[in-house]
Amino acid sequence: MVLDHYNPSFHTHKKSKNLSLKNTNTIRIYLFKFSKVFIVIIFQLVIIQYIYQSSSKPPSSIHQDTTQQIPTPESDDRCKHGTVYVYDLPAKFNQDLLDNCADLDPWHSRCKAVSNHGLGPMAAGLSSTVPENLSPAWYWTDMFAGEVLYHSRMLRHACRTTDPDTATAFYIPFYAGLAVGRYLFTNHSVQERDASCAELLKWVGGQAPWRRMRGADHFIMLGRMTWDFRRSRDGDWGSGFIYMAQMEHVLRLGVERDPWDPLEISVPYPTGFHPRSDRELVQWMEYVRTVNRTSRFAFVGGKRQMKGDFRTILQEQCRDEPGSCRMVDCSGMRCYDGTSEIMEAFVASEFCLQPRGDAHTRRSTFDCMLAGSIPVFFWKRSIYNQYEWFLGDEPDRFSVFIDRRAVRNGTTSIRKVLESLSRDEVRRKREKVISLMPKFVYKSGEDGIAKDAFDFAIDGVLRRLHKR
Ligand SMILES: *[C@@H]1O[C@H](CO)[C@@H](O)[C@H](O)[C@H]1NC(C)=O
Ligand SMILES: *[C@@H]1O[C@H](CO)[C@@H](O)[C@H](O)[C@H]1NC(C)=O
Ligand SMILES: *[C@@H]1O[C@H](CO)[C@@H](O)[C@H](O)[C@H]1NC(C)=O
Repeated sequence: MVLDHYNPSFHTHKKSKNLSLKNTNTIRIYLFKFSKVFIVIIFQLVIIQYIYQSSSKPPSSIHQDTTQQIPTPESDDRCKHGTVYVYDLPAKFNQDLLDNCADLDPWHSRCKAVSNHGLGPMAAGLSSTVPENLSPAWYWTDMFAGEVLYHSRMLRHACRTTDPDTATAFYIPFYAGLAVGRYLFTNHSVQERDASCAELLKWVGGQAPWRRMRGADHFIMLGRMTWDFRRSRDGDWGSGFIYMAQMEHVLRLGVERDPWDPLEISVPYPTGFHPRSDRELVQWMEYVRTVNRTSRFAFVGGKRQMKGDFRTILQEQCRDEPGSCRMVDCSGMRCYDGTSEIMEAFVASEFCLQPRGDAHTRRSTFDCMLAGSIPVFFWKRSIYNQYEWFLGDEPDRFSVFIDRRAVRNGTTSIRKVLESLSRDEVRRKREKVISLMPKFVYKSGEDGIAKDAFDFAIDGVLRRLHKR
C-alpha cells in the first residue's frame, strides 16, 4: 500500500477503506484455501496425463516419429521479424551471367549447373539407390549454385515486400561467385577479378535504403567459399570483394564462412535431393533409417599430387580394408554432379570420411548426411563454427572426430576407431543426422509447410536484423 501514500485522497477516505480492506481479507482467505485444493487437482491431472503418455509410448525406441521431426511454422509467426526487400539489379549482376553460362568457367559450360533455378538438370540413373517414386525429386545440383537458388526462392518468399520503406532486410541478388568464378583459375588481373564487385557496390551505394544504415540491414548470398572473396594482397587468390569498404556492414550467407567473421553465416551446400512435399522428405528419412548398410565406412575423394596428401593416406587405408571400406576414387574424373556412385556408396555405409578438400568444408559432408551416413572429420574447422543455424553447435552428437596426426603416423586405424563405438552410440548419432535433414535439405515444391534450409537461413537473417 506504499503507493497509497502518494494518493492525496487516501487520508480522507481512511474509514471506508478499512471496511473494504476487511472484506478483501476474507475473500483472500477463501481464495487461499480454494487455491490449495485447486493445485492438488491440477497436480493429479498432470500425473494422470504423464502415466497415460508414457504407457502409450513405444518402449525404448530412440527415434521419434519422423513426422514430428519436421519443423513447421506456428501459424502466427509468419513474418513476425519483418520483411525482405529484394533489389531489382541491372541484369549484368545476375541474369546476364546465366544467359552467358557457357563462359562462366574456362573449361566447361556451366549452363546445366545454373539451370532450373539453381537445381540443375533432373537426375537419372539413381534407381538403385533411391526409391522409385522419389527419383523425380533428385537433380544433379551444382554445389556452387546457391546464389541462383536463393534468389529464385527469395522472390517467392512469403515475407518479401516490394516496399523498401517497410522492409527489415534488403537482399542483394548479385551472383558474386559466378561473376568472380570466371576469373579465378586463369591468369586474370586483379582488376578483372574485382571489377563487377566494385560496380555492384557502386550501384547499391547509390540506393536510398543503403544510405540509411550504410548497408547494415543488407545481406547477400555467396555461392562459393568465403576465401574466394578475401584477397588482401595483389598476388593472392581470389577477389577482394569482402574487403571492399562498402561491404564492412553487409551480412553474408555462404557455403563456408570465415569462423572469425561475425557477419558471415554458413548455410548448407545444396545437395541433389529436393523433395516436392513433406511426405517425400519423410519417406526418404524413413528409407535411410532402415536401409541395409553393408560397409562400415566410405571414402569418396580424389588424391592430390602433393607430398603428404592426407587424402592419399585415406585412400590407402580404405584399400587395405576391403571388407569394411567402400571407395569411390575421384582422381581424374569430376566426381560430383552426374554420377550415381557417390550416393550409392554413402547409402551403403555406416560412416563416411570427410577430410578437408581444397577448402575446409565439403559439399560431400551434406551428401553423406543426406544418405543417413555419419560423417567422420579430421579437421575441427570442417564442422566446428560452421552451419550452427542448421546443425546446432554440438557436432559431436552427429559426427566422429579422429586426430589426423594419429592417422598419419600410423598409430590409429580408422576401422578400429569406428568399430569401437557401441551400437547404441552409432544409432544415436544416425538418429541425430536424420533429424537434422529437414534443416539442411532444399525443397523444390511449395507443397506442405515444412521449413527447409533456405527458410531457416532467411528466418535467421530477419531475426538478427530485426533485433537491431
Ligand atoms: C600473368 O599475367 C601477368 C600480367 O598480366 C604476367 O606478368 C605474368 O607473368 C602472368 N603469369 C603467368 C603464370 O602467366
Ligand atoms: C539386409 O541384409 C540382410 C543380410 O544380408 C538380409 O537378410 C536382409 O534381407 C536385408 N534387408 C533388406 C531390407 O534388404
Ligand atoms: C602419433 O600421433 C599422435 C597424435 O598426435 C600422438 O599422440 C602419438 O604420440 C604419435 N605417435 C607416434 C609413435 O609418433
